[in-house]
Amino acid sequence: FFGVSRLENPHSMNGRGKAPFSSCRPKVCIVGSGPAGFYTAQHLIKARPDVDVDIYERLPVPFGLVRFGVAPDHPEVKNVINTFTQTAKHTCCSFYGNVTVGKDVSVGELQQAYHAVVLSYGAEGNRSMGVPGEDLAGVYSAKDFVGWYNGLPSCQELSPDLSCETAVILGQGNVALDVARILLSPIDILKKTDITQPALEALAESHVRRVLIVGRRGPVQIACTIKELREMVNLPDTRPEMVAADFEGVKDAVKDLPRPRKRLTELMLKTAMEIPGEKEQERRNNASRVWSFRFFRSPIEIMADPDNKRTAGIRLAVNKLEGSGDGARAVLTGEVEDVSCGLVISSIGYKSLPIDPSVPFDSSKAIVPNSMGRVQQAAGLYCSGWLKTGPTGVIATTMNNSFDTARSLVEDMDSGTLDISAAKPGSQSISGLLEKRGVKPVIFSDWEKIDSVEMSRGEAAGKPREKLLTVEEMLQVARK
Ligand SMILES: Cc1cc2nc3c(=O)[nH]c(=O)nc-3n(C[C@H](O)[C@H](O)[C@H](O)COP(=O)(O)OP(=O)(O)OC[C@H]3O[C@@H](n4cnc5c(N)ncnc54)[C@H](O)[C@@H]3O)c2cc1C
Ligand SMILES: NC(=O)c1ccc[n+]([C@@H]2O[C@H](COP(=O)([O-])OP(=O)(O)OC[C@H]3O[C@@H](n4cnc5c(N)ncnc54)[C@H](OP(=O)(O)O)[C@@H]3O)[C@@H](O)[C@H]2O)c1
Ligand SMILES: *[C@@H]1O[C@H](CO)[C@@H](O)[C@H](O)[C@H]1NC(C)=O
Ligand SMILES: *[C@@H]1O[C@H](CO)[C@@H](O)[C@H](O)[C@H]1NC(C)=O
Ligand SMILES: *[C@@H]1O[C@H](CO)[C@@H](O)[C@H](O)[C@H]1NC(C)=O
Ligand SMILES: *[C@@H]1O[C@H](CO)[C@@H](O)[C@H](O)[C@H]1NC(C)=O
Repeated sequence: FFGVSRLENPHSMNGRGKAPFSSCRPKVCIVGSGPAGFYTAQHLIKARPDVDVDIYERLPVPFGLVRFGVAPDHPEVKNVINTFTQTAKHTCCSFYGNVTVGKDVSVGELQQAYHAVVLSYGAEGNRSMGVPGEDLAGVYSAKDFVGWYNGLPSCQELSPDLSCETAVILGQGNVALDVARILLSPIDILKKTDITQPALEALAESHVRRVLIVGRRGPVQIACTIKELREMVNLPDTRPEMVAADFEGVKDAVKDLPRPRKRLTELMLKTAMEIPGEKEQERRNNASRVWSFRFFRSPIEIMADPDNKRTAGIRLAVNKLEGSGDGARAVLTGEVEDVSCGLVISSIGYKSLPIDPSVPFDSSKAIVPNSMGRVQQAAGLYCSGWLKTGPTGVIATTMNNSFDTARSLVEDMDSGTLDISAAKPGSQSISGLLEKRGVKPVIFSDWEKIDSVEMSRGEAAGKPREKLLTVEEMLQVARK
């Protein structure tokens, strides 16, 4: 990641200590405080030191999926929070949490108050499988399951039923592997992470012993990356159990694959097909839990137990591939296969949702239509992150595309395409509106109170952090 040392400002407090003459400065607001919001702000402040940037966030706490998505056993990924914190504490930047744009304040009102509005509110919906039985007990979206173990307030009621032996995860991306790892990890590993206490307790009692990670295409199309696959391969107390037939012809195809895909495929082949050495064989024999990839399978129905209440299994259509490489398409063979399982987690992707009828939205792609971050047919409106690109890409990808959006915005200011000649009131007028509506924002120093309570609760429990799990509790700590 790029350094941000130039953003450091020892005099900055929490966004209240504004520079003088702030009414003459270009005013930009950002909607959403995930990586996209923070990286957009970071680049704007660096490129235009005269800009004021206000970040509005629905939750009382910042950082989006870095806090609520990234797996608890990947603490190093969360180091980006340090960079975001530096940006938030810069004199030019303010954070307003506990403000839902589209409800507490409209995008139109923000456009009145600011020279430019950047939408970076992410992808908070899930793609739906669209198969019968999706509503049965025991079927969850990965989005909700992840939100549950990571402490997202809206997912705390999920309390997933983990009393079955076999779980099926649909989709083979990195989120699917996160979920598989959490379901199968020895509890001693998890209890040293910032996973929530209720999730830890439920997982300690879990009966899940077998996790099938199901993909509609083949091994050469798998969506996860090698680091995450290696973590599965090395997960203590587990062994892989693959189907040799799924790997037919893969060995011959390997040599022609492009570099990252080649190494990923080699690791998969090694795991699935090679006879392990003595030590590894012993490790596998000792393992009490099993994971496997199933390829060429699409869900067609989730089946209920005889009382018609709970998930008892899933019917999968058997596919064959048309074409080859990344672009290969799964087509039905007409064959089906039933798998018994008590838990189905759909991990086939996230999905952005429209937040305000005045903002253009492409429902088929589920993104805000834009060119280089400029929202089409909407002067002064920009977008970044997953809302701009769709729900794929790691934090570094999000950083790149957010910098691109910030560059477009700065270009438009410099060229005069964006009129910044007239002063705009910025947060002053929005604060007034919010107050009238009974919404009291949580500022960055309030978040720091929440942060320190979480850290000290974590310390007491031998964890890096014990997250507060409800908005009420967060607000209570913020108000102290
Ligand atoms: C489960 C999971 C695990 C991941 N793990 C990794 C990983 O290990 N490493 C990695 O590099 N990448 C990982 N990623 C990818 C990474 O999280 C994304 O690239 C990145 O978070 C996208 O950033 P974003 O800002 O567009 O969206 P988000 O991070 O979702 O941020 C959007 C923010 O907008 C806020 N918001 C939503 N609606 C409103 C509203 N109406 N008003 C105000 N605010 C609103 C949300 O509360 C949220 O804070 C993971 C993704 C997922 C889903
Ligand atoms: N550790 C990390 O770095 C980390 C962790 C988590 C997430 N992330 C990133 O976050 C992004 C999102 O991850 P993700 O796992 O949600 O998405 P993803 O990587 O796009 O994977 C989605 C999976 O769902 C499948 N799928 C999609 N639509 C389907 C359908 N209708 N029926 C059946 N299967 C379907 C895809 O198969 P097809 O290929 O056939 O479409 C793919 O296997 C990714 O870029 C990921 O790398 C990174
Ligand atoms: C995903 O979202 C849709 C709505 O878009 C919902 O109907 C469905 O139940 C959700 N869950 C799953 C597991 O797909
Ligand atoms: C397998 O289990 C035995 C008996 O508990 C133990 O002595 C041995 O070290 C284990 N081997 C591996 C590789 O974990
Ligand atoms: C981000 O951009 C840099 C510079 O253009 C590039 O080297 C890097 O590969 C990009 N990273 C991702 C994940 O897209
Ligand atoms: C957060 O918003 C709610 C209404 O949306 C409000 O009741 C509350 O006072 C706000 N802020 C704080 C710090 O409590």
